[in-house]
Amino acid sequence: MSITAIKGMNDILPGDVETWQFLEQSAREVFGLYGFSEIRTPVSEKTELFCRSIGETTDIVEKEMYTFNDKSENSLTLRPEGTAPVMRSFIQNRLHNLDPVSKLYYMGPMFRYERPQKGRYRQFHQLGAEVIGVEDAKIDAQVLAMLHQYFVRIGIDTVSLQINSLGCPECRPDYRRELIRYLEARLDDLCEECQRRYQTNPLRVLDCKAQGCRSATVDAPSVLDHLCPSCDDHFAQVKYYLEALDIPFEINARMVRGLDYYVRTTFELVTDQLGSQNAVAAGGRYDGLVESLGGPALPGIGFAIGLERLVLMKGEQRIVAKGPQLFIAAVGQQAADRAFVLMSQLQAAGIRAEMDYLGKSLKAQMRRANKLNAAFTLVVGEEELQSGQAQLKNMADSCQSAVALDSLVETLTRNLLDKSSSA
Ligand code: HAM
Repeated sequence: MSITAIKGMNDILPGDVETWQFLEQSAREVFGLYGFSEIRTPVSEKTELFCRSIGETTDIVEKEMYTFNDKSENSLTLRPEGTAPVMRSFIQNRLHNLDPVSKLYYMGPMFRYERPQKGRYRQFHQLGAEVIGVEDAKIDAQVLAMLHQYFVRIGIDTVSLQINSLGCPECRPDYRRELIRYLEARLDDLCEECQRRYQTNPLRVLDCKAQGCRSATVDAPSVLDHLCPSCDDHFAQVKYYLEALDIPFEINARMVRGLDYYVRTTFELVTDQLGSQNAVAAGGRYDGLVESLGGPALPGIGFAIGLERLVLMKGEQRIVAKGPQLFIAAVGQQAADRAFVLMSQLQAAGIRAEMDYLGKSLKAQMRRANKLNAAFTLVVGEEELQSGQAQLKNMADSCQSAVALDSLVETLTRNLLDKSSSA
């Protein structure tokens, strides 16, 4: 039996990969405009990094990590997300010494042992961005403006932005205590998992999809009513700047996020196009994270977009690969040899050229040119070799013009293909 891929880990094939490249390239362009530089970190890290940052009692750390021992018995984990590795690298490489404000972005595979379904995979890809060093709410709004602009650039307008504030170590403990008291009085209505975690991670109960938990928490105390004055003021400023930038948003006081490092602003971009996997992007502030990982006391904020979910949303509007600019059909061995040299010269000159390698008939070669969506074709046979001229056919309008084989590269570079190459 042949070997198949691991469940929940997918190949990205030609035909699909063009959409991925478009989404990645658009990110490079948009994030670059906002002053972000790319950072690349390894796909695995010491397990402790994720336990300390994401939190021991989160779903990710409790049950979703790909953790293994290497041959020296070090516990390693395939990264389940990108923020902790970027912070580890930021601290280790002392990036704060280079610039008081670091704007970093990354893209690549992440790994979580979740139950695979549409939009949820065990290897998935994130496009993420992080800003370290700024507490001012302008940066919260700017990060959200960049996210908004990215979605404008890629042509997806069916997402809405939800924001919340989770408070800080000053005000959250009081809220947490009040929430635990509230949940305690309704324990029998909660699902088994929430009964287990309401003490350790009470906020997650607000996020639980079980019907009992939903009804039991309808009147739960709101985190927004428990913010200390400085968190309240920060959240008011975030809203003020978002309005000033004309970025639409809704407030969702029940949004709690599944990672422990968040403080103050949190947000999600949600869609109703993807069933239960409705978050296309998510993020927030993590002001204490860098310090808790042994770095300087610097605030941070960022987000990650799920690339598979974007690709699903692009659906029908997929990006199609560019076909060859010229397909050379050859009749006979000598013509095929000449076509091969011509094709190679064209490719070296930056023109997408293609030919047949399988000794097919002229008719079959033309069928292939059509299938590949070639912009032009050129038929080279004995007669063309002798006259040194061939007919260049524009496949869009079937117009033909004679070209000298000796100057094919110059002619194509100069004239015809200059125009069609942008198509
Ligand atoms: P997250 O909410 O865990 O946040 O993931 C961000 C996004 O990654 C989700 O909104 C979703 O689009 C995508 N995603 C997550 N899990 C899967 C999966 N199993 N399959 C497919 N897509 C998935 C974080 O990871 C934070 N590090 C974001 C952040 C950056 N916060 C601050 N900076």
